[in-house]
Amino acid sequence: MDSPLRAWRDTLEDLGVMGLVREPRAPAPEDPVPQPSSPSPVRPPLARPAPRPVAAAPAAYVPPSDPIGCPAPAAVAGAASLSDLHRIIQGCLACPLGPGRMKFVFGEGDPGARILFVGEGPGRDEDVQGRPFVGKAGALLDRMIGALGMTREETYVANIVKCRPPDNRTPAPDEARACLGYLRRQIELIQPAVIVTLGATPLRELVGIGEGITRMRGQWQRVKVGGREIPVMPTYHPAYVLRQYTPDVRRAVWEDLQAAKAWADRPAEA
Ligand code: URA
Repeated sequence: MDSPLRAWRDTLEDLGVMGLVREPRAPAPEDPVPQPSSPSPVRPPLARPAPRPVAAAPAAYVPPSDPIGCPAPAAVAGAASLSDLHRIIQGCLACPLGPGRMKFVFGEGDPGARILFVGEGPGRDEDVQGRPFVGKAGALLDRMIGALGMTREETYVANIVKCRPPDNRTPAPDEARACLGYLRRQIELIQPAVIVTLGATPLRELVGIGEGITRMRGQWQRVKVGGREIPVMPTYHPAYVLRQYTPDVRRAVWEDLQAAKAWADRPAEA
């Protein structure tokens, strides 16, 4: 995009005028990926960003209902339930995505789910509704879960970042890092038997693997959260499947999901 157009788009976004944004762009497997970020499980949130200058009160921006800014790591660690955690972090302004969101997209599903799906971040529809995967990619995710003989409500669905990146771009490493403690606490509380990462971003940011998803999909990984090692099945992002709706891609996702389900269905170890 040339600079006058970009400046105009930025102005519209600053004013909170929604709808003049590019269609969602999901990470393509062929995208270059940065090296894995530090695997350190404890990542302090970033300092609260300086407020963005705005020319006028944004029309579409809905302020967080509980603007507590950047929640203390101890409060996040002490959250006793998912709803407690949601309450504590919903007003988060720990990274530059916070001030631009319409709704905070915490994640949803069975608090005791055996399978946790982790995507990249909210898109336009998710930002409006405050729920993960409600757009076209979400409809496909629901169909994929249904093909496993389950409903979305029996799983848990979350993202690497809880606020929409502008233009649905990939979250920047700092943004992902600022949000990762929330996802990790969700994982501690849910204690899933298996995590399915959707696309390159959750594989890189949660598991620390920066290799391309085409290479890594279908290969079991592990992530340590709260002292537990959790198996991770990397697969393609549903938005990529929609763009590359080929028998090979669909078969690959189907195999990955079946492997994840088979693991989740194993009787719990004594
Ligand atoms: N893509 C994602 O990665 N997450 C969503 O919630 C929606 C689309």
